[in-house]
Amino acid sequence: MAQLELDHLNKAYGSLRALTDLTFSVEAGEIFGFVGSNGAGKTTAMRIVLGVLAADSGEVRWRGRPLDLDMRRRVGYMPEERGLYPKMKVGEQLVYLARLHGMDAPAATAAMERWTERLGVAPRRGDHVEKLSLGNQQRVQLAAALVHDPEVVILDEPATGLDPRGMAEVRDIVRGLKKRNRLIFMSSHILQEVTDVCDEVALIDKGKLLFYDTLANVTSRFGDGHAPIDVGLSRPVDPQAVPRTVGALPGVEACTVLDPTRLRIKFRGDPAAREGLLRALVGLNIGVVSFAQSESLLEEIYLKEISQGDS
Ligand SMILES: Nc1ncnc2c1ncn2[C@@H]1O[C@H](COP(=O)(O)OP(=O)(O)OP(=O)(O)O)[C@@H](O)[C@H]1O
Ligand SMILES: [Mg+2]
Repeated sequence: MAQLELDHLNKAYGSLRALTDLTFSVEAGEIFGFVGSNGAGKTTAMRIVLGVLAADSGEVRWRGRPLDLDMRRRVGYMPEERGLYPKMKVGEQLVYLARLHGMDAPAATAAMERWTERLGVAPRRGDHVEKLSLGNQQRVQLAAALVHDPEVVILDEPATGLDPRGMAEVRDIVRGLKKRNRLIFMSSHILQEVTDVCDEVALIDKGKLLFYDTLANVTSRFGDGHAPIDVGLSRPVDPQAVPRTVGALPGVEACTVLDPTRLRIKFRGDPAAREGLLRALVGLNIGVVSFAQSESLLEEIYLKEISQGDS
């Protein structure tokens, strides 16, 4: 049985249809990435899952049963609009939130200490939230979502506002939660983030699900030996002649100049053919210094699917 199911959720704000028949499910021990452009309906769906917003129709189920209040206490939520009390001290606030979710005082204090340590905000425990930098407030917000050791973790754009180290820490924390069999449902604009940590992805656009599948299936289904290859060059190329020459190599379907020293090649072929491509590129004497599968496959899929949705 699926752990968390969103079953034909519909939601309109006046005449705007924010969600249309949104249906998918998320398993425990899985990191589920929810991807979509601004206004696609991610936050709306997450709020409905949490019960802070009512759907017009459809249902959210946890282990086959409608989500009740008791279950909601076992959910940790990092909202998009940061919801901390600005005038409360970091430590007090986290202890308060943990106690609100049913922890006793010693356990709440221990959890507050552990999470502030883990998120690098331990020295700020005695400060009012409003005095913290945006990124540090964000860290406290994440601690607030996790302090009561929830079974289900819903993170709405957790990486927004964090520096690269903070983003890496979030990835680490999320992977740790997965190891402990928590269910993680996170939205992100940062497709690289999703590619790095998520097991499954759902892409929505204008409130409709475009697809949802395991990340591996998504990349093989849409990538299908098509994963673009990025080639780095030591010197600028002729923007007309080189794409034409490269485009004529075996297996190459397209070659675009990303910038004067970077090419992106759409290529179809097995590893031996790829090796042949690399050899041919080197043979062109255009100063090849790197050759790697583009990491932006999900981005390509995303842009392609969304533009198809528009037509
Ligand atoms: N309270 C509201 N009243 C009216 N319209 C709303 C309300 N909340 C959201 N919307 C609209 O519903 C749609 C979905 O918004 P939502 O916030 O769920 O998108 P999102 O995917 O989270 O976007 P973002 O990536 O920008 O956070 C948008 O068109 C938005 O303008
Ligand atoms: Mg949102």
